[in-house]
Amino acid sequence: MRRAIYPGSFDPITKGHLDVIKRAATLFDELVVAVAFNMQKQTLFPADERVALIEEAVAGESNIRVTRFEGLLVNFARDQEASVVVRGLRAISDFEFEFQMALMNRKLEPAIETVFLTPREEYTYLSSRIVKEVARLGGNIEAFVPVSVASALRARFARAES
Ligand code: PNS
Repeated sequence: MRRAIYPGSFDPITKGHLDVIKRAATLFDELVVAVAFNMQKQTLFPADERVALIEEAVAGESNIRVTRFEGLLVNFARDQEASVVVRGLRAISDFEFEFQMALMNRKLEPAIETVFLTPREEYTYLSSRIVKEVARLGGNIEAFVPVSVASALRARFARAES
């Protein structure tokens, strides 16, 4: 049983993340999408809502599980009996942070490997941060996020304006 973890903030999930999830789910027996909960980091959506939005987007995929985690990723991976951490690499600009994180995680837990997957080209410029900015300024975000995320973003920013 080869289990992999795909960790991230997912604030919120984009079609780029979903593309990586689908690719990873074909490579491993089980994929655990792990939503980071960090009291120090301010997010637009609370962790439980980020989990719920991902669950809706991957509904029907039998080897994908979505959960939140706190603390060190390698500890969570060990608890889950996962041997692989999956991360998406969109561009060279991602590389430095990802390289640092992969090597630190290896130092902390040598038994866990990091595997990088690249999303489809049309998603390489996508990020949660940029999608939130477009949504906040009233732009069309349907092409970048699942339907439920688009409505959650609209609701969030409509509330902020009223
Ligand atoms: O989507 P993000 O924000 O790029 O995800 C980063 C995340 C949550 C995967 C990373 O910050 C993380 O693993 N946090 C858990 C704490 C931890 O283990 N830190 C040391 C890893 S270098």
